Amino acid sequence: MTQHQKKYRIAVMAGDGIGPEVISATKIVLEATGLAFEWMAVAGGENAIATHQTPMPEVSLKTIQTCQAAIKGPTTTPVGTGHSSVNVLLRKKLDLYSNLRPVLSIPGVESRYQNIDLVIVRENTEDLYAGIEHVVVPGVVESIKVITEKASTRIAQFAFQYAMNQKRKKVTAVHKANIMKLSDGLFLDCCKKVAAQYPSIVYEEVIVDNLCMQLVKNPHQFDVMVLENLYGDIVSDLCAGLVGGLGVVPGANIGENCAIFEAVHGSAPDIAGKHLANPTACILSGAMMLDYLKEYRAASIVRQATVNVYQKGQTKTRDLGGSASTEIFTEALVQEIKLLL
Ligand code: NAI
Ligand code: MG
Repeated sequence: MTQHQKKYRIAVMAGDGIGPEVISATKIVLEATGLAFEWMAVAGGENAIATHQTPMPEVSLKTIQTCQAAIKGPTTTPVGTGHSSVNVLLRKKLDLYSNLRPVLSIPGVESRYQNIDLVIVRENTEDLYAGIEHVVVPGVVESIKVITEKASTRIAQFAFQYAMNQKRKKVTAVHKANIMKLSDGLFLDCCKKVAAQYPSIVYEEVIVDNLCMQLVKNPHQFDVMVLENLYGDIVSDLCAGLVGGLGVVPGANIGENCAIFEAVHGSAPDIAGKHLANPTACILSGAMMLDYLKEYRAASIVRQATVNVYQKGQTKTRDLGGSASTEIFTEALVQEIKLLL
């Protein structure tokens, strides 16, 4: 680092399960680009209950807001009972309305499909994730789906603007408005209105169940997809399956004034602490953060180095059929970055 080099202040929530392992790898790789970072560790997730009596301490939110960006490992959310999702809280409290998930084939990563290049734009603040649930009478529960014109319009605008900036050709709005005529109907109306402002981009609408079948049959027909929160969550994991799995798909939660970068995958308790986690998804989320910080060269070096490691084919974690540990993979990536710098 030279004396006058800019230092980025980045909040880091390591999270639960494999979170600390993939976050540690990501910090090492981002530092290998030669950029300078001040990592601000913030507590969050199931682990924070012991230290802060809450999975989402207020002080962590405050620190994130003082940083230029944040990276986050996955956090565990108990099924059926227990605390609410830290992710849902973060996305709502910081108004990180857009969940951007590029799904790209990495040459050298074995998968059923080649040359996949899809982008998922998922609405991040409402839908069934509003968390409004109650027992009407014993044995009957209501879970309320909230869709607003404001949130639907701004996610559609984000998707089209992203498509324009990235020179993409088509935006597909995904829905189930044949059944949820009012809520998904409103979402579609908003998408349609925004689409009219972008005549150079092809616009289409596809029902979500058909989309899933089409994605498996011929994923290349799609480009950018814009979805409500729940459909976006489910379709993200489906798309990860097209390119080798959750170990390689990055993501970003983006708002007007703040952004948190995190992989699509969860805390993977089945492999936590065993040095088996593939850090690629988290590292590529870090590359998305470098783009957000306008460090385009460093971002592209991280991506190219990742491709180089996979193309050489010797260093893969277990999820991709290899036997390298998280640490060995990370070291191979660092060596590749050094060659590219
Ligand atoms: P998961 O994504 O943690 O795991 C699904 C499968 O993929 C597991 O077999 C796991 O070992 C594998 N996998 C995931 N990431 C991997 C990686 N980087 N390298 C190698 N293998 C990987 O999903 P699951 O099991 O449904 O959820 C576990 C926990 O994670 C739950 O508590 C859930 O709420 C939480 N979760 C958190 C998210 C976040 O914080 N952003 C996102 C998704 C789930
Ligand atoms: Mg998910």
